[in-house]
Amino acid sequence: MPKSDIFQKSGFKFRIPPHLTDYAEVYKNFSWQQAASEITFFPDGKLNAAYNAVDRHLKGVNKEKLALIWEGSDGAKETYTFAQLASLSNQVANLLKTKGVQKGDRVFLFLPRIPLLYVSFLGILKIGSVAGLLFSAFQEQALFDRLKDSGSKVLITNRELSKRLEKVRQNLPDLKEVLIVDDDNFKKELESQSDQVEIEKTDPDDNAFMLYTSGTTGKPKGVVHHHYAILSQHITAKYVLDIHDEDIYWCTADPGWVTGIAYTILGSWSNAVTSVIYEGRFDPEKWYQILADYKVSVWYTAPTAIRMLMAKGDDILKKYDLSALRHILSVGEPLNPEAIRWSVNVLGLPFHDTWWQTETGCICIANYPVMDIKFGSMGKPFPGIEAAIVNDEGKVLPVNTEGNIALKPGWPSMMRTIWQNEEKYKSYFIGNWYLTGDHGLVDEDGYFWFIGRADDVIKTSGERVGPFEVESALVEHPAVIEAGVIGKPDTLRGEIIKAFVVLEKEYFEKCRDENAAAGLKEELSVYVKKHLAGHAYPREIEFIDKLPKTRSGKIMRRILKAKEMGLPVGDTSTLEEY
Ligand code: WTA
Repeated sequence: MPKSDIFQKSGFKFRIPPHLTDYAEVYKNFSWQQAASEITFFPDGKLNAAYNAVDRHLKGVNKEKLALIWEGSDGAKETYTFAQLASLSNQVANLLKTKGVQKGDRVFLFLPRIPLLYVSFLGILKIGSVAGLLFSAFQEQALFDRLKDSGSKVLITNRELSKRLEKVRQNLPDLKEVLIVDDDNFKKELESQSDQVEIEKTDPDDNAFMLYTSGTTGKPKGVVHHHYAILSQHITAKYVLDIHDEDIYWCTADPGWVTGIAYTILGSWSNAVTSVIYEGRFDPEKWYQILADYKVSVWYTAPTAIRMLMAKGDDILKKYDLSALRHILSVGEPLNPEAIRWSVNVLGLPFHDTWWQTETGCICIANYPVMDIKFGSMGKPFPGIEAAIVNDEGKVLPVNTEGNIALKPGWPSMMRTIWQNEEKYKSYFIGNWYLTGDHGLVDEDGYFWFIGRADDVIKTSGERVGPFEVESALVEHPAVIEAGVIGKPDTLRGEIIKAFVVLEKEYFEKCRDENAAAGLKEELSVYVKKHLAGHAYPREIEFIDKLPKTRSGKIMRRILKAKEMGLPVGDTSTLEEY
C-alpha cells in the first residue's frame, strides 16, 4: 500500500471555506437528532423527501434560483427554477392520482436523463407512492424481473423504450398503466393538471424509493429506502460534496443507480444547489465542454470515466477552461492513486474518493475537503456512522488486518428492508453489524482501504452486475448448456464481464472451427445485450467443457476467476471432481 503518497490539506487554498471544518471534532460530537434540524418536518414528526428537496426552498430566497440546467443529447438546452420543479412535479403527482395511484403503490420510471425523469421522481414521492428506477440500458428480461417483483402499478417511459416491454407486458398483471411521455395524449393530460397538490405527510419510515441491486445469488433484490433517508443525503451532500450556495454542481451518475438519486435529486437539491444534467453518453470532449460551458465548480464522477479521460491525453483538456472547478469527487469503484496524481497535475485539485452502496443510501466513508488524502484510501467514516473491519463472526479485527467492511446500523438512510424478502434482508447482518460484502482494512490513522468484494458481484465501468443474471440470460440461448460468469480485472473499466460457457454438443462440434467459434461468441454477447441490458453483457467469452461446481451443484466462480488470473485455486475440498 503506497502510504507515502499523501495530499496534505494544510496550506491548501480553499476558495470557499469548507462546511466541515474539523472532521475529528464533528465526528466525536455528531448526533442525528441534532443534524435533523437541517431538514424540514411537518407537525407530528412527519416529513416528505421531495418536499425537502424542492418545495421547502419556495418559502425563501431560492424560489427563483436555478435548480436544473439541462442539456440534451441533441444539444437542446433547458433550465428550471426550484419553483418550476415544484409546479411540474405537482402536475405529475396530480396526474398519477387520476390514474388511481395511492400511497404505497409502486410507480416505476424508465427514461433517459430528461427533465421529466427528475420531475416525475419528485411527483411520485409527493403523493406517498414509491418510485422505482430502471436504468435505460435495461432490456426485456431485466425490466420484467423488476416490474414483476415490485408489482409496479404504473410505468412512466417513452415511446422508444416502451417497445422493450411489448412481449412481457401481458405477464405483468399488476401493471395497470404505461404512460408514454412523448405521446401527445400524455402531454395534454399533464398540462391540464393543477400545479398545486397536497403533499403527503409521510412518516419518516414510509417507503420513498426502491432500486434493484445485484448480489451473488439469485435475481436482483429490491432495496427499499424511506423518506427519512433525506437527512443522511442532505448532510453528506453538505459535508462531503461540500456544496455551497454559489456552486454549479454536476453529478454524472444516472438515476438508474443510487448515486443519481441521492446526489442529483435528493441530497443535493435539498441543499438548494444548481445542478447540471447532461442527457448524453460519456464522451471526453463533451464532458470537458460541459464542465467549461457551465462553469461547474463541484464535480462528482466515477473512476472509469476518470481513467477514460486520462487515456484521452491532456492535450484536449487544455482546450477547455476548467478553472471554475474547486472540489472533485469519485465513487463506485476503487480510485487509482494515478487518477489523483493526474487530477492534481492537470486540474490542481485532488479527486476525493467516497465509498457507499445502494443499501446504505448515502456516502458512508469519504475523503473530506479538510482531511489529508492518502492516495488509494476511501477515507474515514461519515459522522454518525460507525465503521469497522470484522471477521465472518462479526468480531472487530485489529488495525491493518484484512476483513469485512462492516457498519453499525442506525443512520437514517440505511436500507430498512428488501422488497418482500425479509430473509435476505436479515442475511446482511452478523450480531449488530451490517456486512457490506466488501473486504478491506483500516490503518493506524483510521483510514479505510478497499481490497475487493467478498462475493462474486461484478463492477464494470462502475455499474453493479450480478453474475447470476448474466448466466441466466446466457442459458436462454439454444447453444448454451450452462455458464459461469466472473468479473475480470480491466485497466480501463475496473472489471469486464467474462463468461465461461459450456456448449450443446452440436454447437460444440461446430465450434471446433475457429471462425464459427468467434461468430458464436459474438452472437452470445449480442444476445445478452439485447435481452438483459446494454451494459451487462460479456465482453469476453470462453468455451469450456465443464464448470467447477460444489457437490451441491453451485458454480464455483472463485475457481474460474483464480484460473483466469493464473492464481492458486485455493481450498477445493467442497468441490465436485473437476
Ligand atoms: C463498490 C454505488 C471501492 C463496492 C454508490 C460497493 C467502491 C459497491 C467504492 C456498491 C469506492 C463503491 N472504492 N469500491 N470508493 N464505492 N464501491 O450499490 O464494492 O452500485 O460495495 O453503489 O461498489 O455499488 P452500488
